[in-house]
Amino acid sequence: MEFVKVTEIEHYTNTLFRFKTERPSTFRFTAGEFIMVSMGDNNISRAYSLTSGPYDEYLEFYSIKVPDGPLTSRLQYIEIGDSIAIGTKPTGTLTLANLDLGGNLWLLATGTGIAPFISLLRDPYTYDAFDSIRVIWSVRYPKELEAYHQFLKDQDILYTPTVTRDSGWQGMNKRITVQMADQQQDILPAKDKIMVCGSMPFNEDIQNMLTNWGWQEGTRKNAGTFVQEKAFTTK
Ligand code: A2P
Repeated sequence: MEFVKVTEIEHYTNTLFRFKTERPSTFRFTAGEFIMVSMGDNNISRAYSLTSGPYDEYLEFYSIKVPDGPLTSRLQYIEIGDSIAIGTKPTGTLTLANLDLGGNLWLLATGTGIAPFISLLRDPYTYDAFDSIRVIWSVRYPKELEAYHQFLKDQDILYTPTVTRDSGWQGMNKRITVQMADQQQDILPAKDKIMVCGSMPFNEDIQNMLTNWGWQEGTRKNAGTFVQEKAFTTK
């Protein structure tokens, strides 16, 4: 583990915040990877996807806050100038190395599962590797989009913010699984590649759906037509 200073913090709701830290000059990672994060004074650490890009001078993380969560009950109170500890071995399956490249890239996220995709969208290589990029981000309520909504609107991508539990929401309100099923004829492994990150039930539903449709899951050993990883920090 290595200690880094917190440089920026932004709270969005009583369950969501993001923070930036200094980036040690020797710290390297690939867009889409995660590292372990802890307060540095006990053994409680959790995996966090980096949301910063591989060329950014800072590290950024997007986190939930859980009142009785072993890590986030304390992490939510960090202030600028405090230090947190980070692991030195970034890893994970949501990297372009595990995916066949070319065609359309689909990034499907629920909740804080958007985190690794923010990093990928901050890496110019992602835009070079595909003809087009589509992002579908599903949350229960609009305020849960706040951290990255403007960033996603500003990118050269097709972005479908999805809000499933607010009757006043004017945009897409269907679950991602339903949106994908609606377009099944048009989404094909020969031309489309899919990355998935969200809650366990969401990941399992998409994984089953794609596998039944003949898609191949990519791993660190063999690239495939889709990759998935659950969003980590739940406590
Ligand atoms: P819904 O409101 O219909 O449950 P959560 O906070 O429970 O992880 O949910 C975040 C977002 O993911 C919500 O929009 C939720 O929709 C959606 N979601 C949760 N589980 C699934 C699933 N198994 N398949 C598709 N979408 C899901």
